[in-house]
Amino acid sequence: MLISGKTERDLWETCFLSKRELLDAIVTEVIVCRKCELWKTRKNPVPGEGSPNSQIMFIGEAPGYWEDVKGKPFVGAAGKFLDTLLSEAGLSRENVFIGNILKCRPPKNREPSPDEIEACTPYLNSQIRVIQPEFIVTLGNYSTAYIFSKVALPFNGITRVHGKFYKASILDMQVTIFPTFHPAAALYHPKYKEQLISDFHTLKQEPTQKRPV
Ligand code: URA
Ligand code: SF4
Repeated sequence: MLISGKTERDLWETCFLSKRELLDAIVTEVIVCRKCELWKTRKNPVPGEGSPNSQIMFIGEAPGYWEDVKGKPFVGAAGKFLDTLLSEAGLSRENVFIGNILKCRPPKNREPSPDEIEACTPYLNSQIRVIQPEFIVTLGNYSTAYIFSKVALPFNGITRVHGKFYKASILDMQVTIFPTFHPAAALYHPKYKEQLISDFHTLKQEPTQKRPV
């Protein structure tokens, strides 16, 4: 069954599946995907992981070295810092969902190309549709640019837009978008580290009805 390239029959079948089963169906598609060239050089795809009932989705850029080795998102140095940020905000990996714009590692961690983003983001869109999060936290320029483009918000760089809440309609759902820096930026620049910590503090203060903390 295809979730991202839905037919009418697929849609009918999905009515009877749980959120977990729908997310697993997306993983199955990603594992066999050859829509761009990156499947040739990756070791493992990194579809993303977390709670199907999460009210917060974190979206990064693309798998790096360790993510490619382990098939899991944010398990390298940037991921360790993300774990710290999550715990500062009273969250854990178990009650959020963590994904990426690209599901396969670009060689030598080069930047994602526009073609790769176009080929891969239907999977992310499907994940957003299934989870229906209250908040989408975009980590860094690539994921913020992508999500802002989907909601027709002007994007003029992460340093200008980070740390604020943007209410928007995405894929026919109401969400609150919260852009911040990519955790990897903090590893090289102390000023981004401070701003990330401050942004996660802002995130923690935001009132929400459904947040599982
Ligand atoms: N950087 C990302 O953007 N995503 C990961 O999963 C790891 C590092
Ligand atoms: Fe498919 Fe995305 Fe991997 Fe490209 S990066 S092969 S589109 S899963």
